[in-house]
Amino acid sequence: MLDKASGSDPELEGVLAALKASLAIPFEEAVSMPPRVYTSEGVFQLERENIFAREWHCAGRADELSEPGAYVTLDIAGEPVFAVCDREGNIRAFSNVCRHRCARLLEGRGKAGRIVCPYHAWVYNLDGSLMSAPMMPDDFDANGISLPEIAVENWRGWIYINLDRNAPPLFPRIEALDEEMANYHMERYTTLFVTEEIWDTNWKCLVENFSEAYHVFAVHPTTVDAALPTRLGTYPPGGEGFFRYCQKKLEGVTFDLEKDGTVLNDDLTEEQRETYPIVGIFPAHVFSISEDRLFWLALQPHGIGQVKFRWGVSVYPGAVPDEGRDAHAAKAKAALDKVNSEDRGIIENIYRGASSNLASSGRLSPKERCLWEFKQYYAQRLCG
Ligand code: FES
Ligand SMILES: [Fe+2]
Repeated sequence: MLDKASGSDPELEGVLAALKASLAIPFEEAVSMPPRVYTSEGVFQLERENIFAREWHCAGRADELSEPGAYVTLDIAGEPVFAVCDREGNIRAFSNVCRHRCARLLEGRGKAGRIVCPYHAWVYNLDGSLMSAPMMPDDFDANGISLPEIAVENWRGWIYINLDRNAPPLFPRIEALDEEMANYHMERYTTLFVTEEIWDTNWKCLVENFSEAYHVFAVHPTTVDAALPTRLGTYPPGGEGFFRYCQKKLEGVTFDLEKDGTVLNDDLTEEQRETYPIVGIFPAHVFSISEDRLFWLALQPHGIGQVKFRWGVSVYPGAVPDEGRDAHAAKAKAALDKVNSEDRGIIENIYRGASSNLASSGRLSPKERCLWEFKQYYAQRLCG
């Protein structure tokens, strides 16, 4: 909190000092984040400058935007943007703020031949250029007026956007992950469903929750642990731009989509068929993958105490018959809604706990290696 007399923020300074000190601590001795990183307004403002305004954020799957005019809107820590498929079939991203008097142009997701502002009906093309503006004087020239464009990358069917047009490319930071995951051919998975939610917690609580199976036996004893038990998770080191752990399936367990034993993807090794990578691309994109299914969350921090996120499931070609696709989607979503509701309860709970004046950092378990990697990344970005 800001000290009005001095203009300093002792809470922020305390957090930064703790994070900076943690950079020198090895995983074997590491503790969790200082609780104030989840609750301090000063920290959130610094995240906006050092992380959200500079990093690559996942907007979703490329196949959601495969037809001209298909769009999805996002808020990157308060900055409204949208990604859209233009008339040439390229995915591009723009500011979602009208060049007239700042109205928000698009909501949610959908498909539009042109973008019409809801306030005074200025019309934009799919390349962001202003096409027309009704009842403007003769000396008004729409030429040269465009929505500010935002950088886009496509990595194996994932669309990433960056508010910083000069940001270094994402790919070199995840190249090691790309090699490791090449056999999965992630770009082939097609969207089964996508949805959006807002939870009352800090965005980092959700990233961290996805990064470990330590909580699975306690929070998901019947829904997850019965098939993917905490004790079968392994935590090899991640890389510069990502963490990843590997979850082995209990012997003899089969999931819905693989009931008939069909091999969908010959390129996967036996080990890859039985062990699922759970991945986080810094800062806020997480997913798990198996031969048939990709389950993902793309987070949009929504102030300190809320996180909005798009999440969905994509499937490998042949995993779901065309005629039963909607029924499969409903069934998969219902199962994941149950797991998510278990996580939601505990994640909203720990956010409230982090607000306590008596809250403190605790020692990490060997199964929380990815939390340490995320903390190292986060500390470097905030203090670096
Ligand atoms: S604010 Fe968009 S047309 Fe006026
Ligand atoms: Fe969980």
